[in-house]
Amino acid sequence: MRMLGRLLGTDDTDGRKLVAWGDALLGNTDPDFTDYPVDLTDTEQFRMVPFRSPAAIEIFQYAQDQAADRRVCPRDDIITKLLAPTIDGDPLTDLEFNNFFTLLVAAGNDTTRYTMTHGMWTLLNHPQLWQAWQADPGLTTTAVEEILRSGSVTMHFRRTATRDVEMRGSQIRAGDKVVIWFVAANHDSEGFERPFRFDLGREHNDHMAFGRNGPHLCLGAWLARMEVRLVFEELMKRVSCLEPAGPIDRLRSNFISGIKRLPVRVR
Ligand code: HEM
Repeated sequence: MRMLGRLLGTDDTDGRKLVAWGDALLGNTDPDFTDYPVDLTDTEQFRMVPFRSPAAIEIFQYAQDQAADRRVCPRDDIITKLLAPTIDGDPLTDLEFNNFFTLLVAAGNDTTRYTMTHGMWTLLNHPQLWQAWQADPGLTTTAVEEILRSGSVTMHFRRTATRDVEMRGSQIRAGDKVVIWFVAANHDSEGFERPFRFDLGREHNDHMAFGRNGPHLCLGAWLARMEVRLVFEELMKRVSCLEPAGPIDRLRSNFISGIKRLPVRVR
């Protein structure tokens, strides 16, 4: 989050608050992260806000304060750029800005963190992989893609079909809600050889961790790749041995595959 905060232009001291809000949004079904877990409590009053989460209301207020600040004092940051005129000179409306800021805080924070923990979890369970990676740092590019594929942190998205289409004998009509399970596609034996095997050097890894190359392909894909790569590259310089140091704790969610706590002993 600190990396994303620096790009957005928020204060480092707000980092923890932004992380907590991001957790509450994407972890909106986990009582660890919100007092209003969806399906466990009545969230009807938050029906019209992102993720049915009261945290979204706090982020909206924070976004408005940030916007007001940049209007007085523009800076070289993403918030200032988002507020600059866009198409035909029309700036984003307040609601559009608030929504987009909230989307960035939600999408750009937990996803990357959980991908790192998935990678770490795999390395803890298969120490020979860490040894092989250390022995050949040239594997880093393919290893990062394999972490993204096998972790599949964003498990699904729902989209609305814009036209009728037939897919493998199933008829989808314009207006139908369609759920795309990225995690299933990423473990499809038609797309990947031995999909449940973690292969540091996997070739032809055309995974869907960031979506499927359409107009909504993840905006932060390259930032996320860089963050995951840097974490393991830096770790490699400092740590030769990784060991599990206690039980892990998973996020209660069928949307995000997250590991909330992952104790690790390093040597
Ligand atoms: C490993 C980390 C990440 C994963 C697994 C991930 C995954 C995804 C997925 C699956 C989508 C939907 C794509 C589609 O519908 O085709 C998405 C969209 C998006 N992501 Fe990410 N993401 C990650 C990191 C980030 C970061 C770091 C940012 C921002 C800095 C970000 C911002 C966005 C935004 C704004 C969208 C919506 C794009 C649109 O609808 O046009 N994501 N992401």
